[in-house]
Amino acid sequence: MTMSAKTITGLLVMTTVLLTTGVVQAAGSIKDGKEKARACQVCHGKGGHSKNPTYPVLAGQHAKYIVKQLKAFRAGTRKDPIMNGMAAPLSDQDMADIAAYFESNRTP
Ligand code: HEC
Repeated sequence: MTMSAKTITGLLVMTTVLLTTGVVQAAGSIKDGKEKARACQVCHGKGGHSKNPTYPVLAGQHAKYIVKQLKAFRAGTRKDPIMNGMAAPLSDQDMADIAAYFESNRTP
């Protein structure tokens, strides 16, 4: 299938509109996430490769799932005394960045 220049331009305009209106969730930055995830690795292991069964492995986990869980911890709908506190100060962008970083760490 080939797309005409008109179709491509149309798609680009649509994407830009969606992104600027925030309909599409902001993509996470792996680079920013690496910085922001420093505090998490004390428990979840370096790069999210936890060796301790008390702390879930986050490395390679789908970003969408990580963000969903962090939002639930922040909202208090998922309860864990540690994680409710850890998620409380995180913005949606922080969560997207951190999740992108952990998702990118498939291999140890
Ligand atoms: C002091 C230890 C500790 C720190 C620091 C910590 N966590 Fe956690 N985290 C936990 C524990 C314990 C659980 C399991 C909670 C439960 O049993 O529901 C957990 C669960 C999670 C989960 C859910 C995983 C799943 O499979 O459902 C995510 C996502 C998560 N943490 C992300 C983070 C992020 C991001 C940070 C840094 C901002 C962080 N954690 C910092 C201890 C910690």
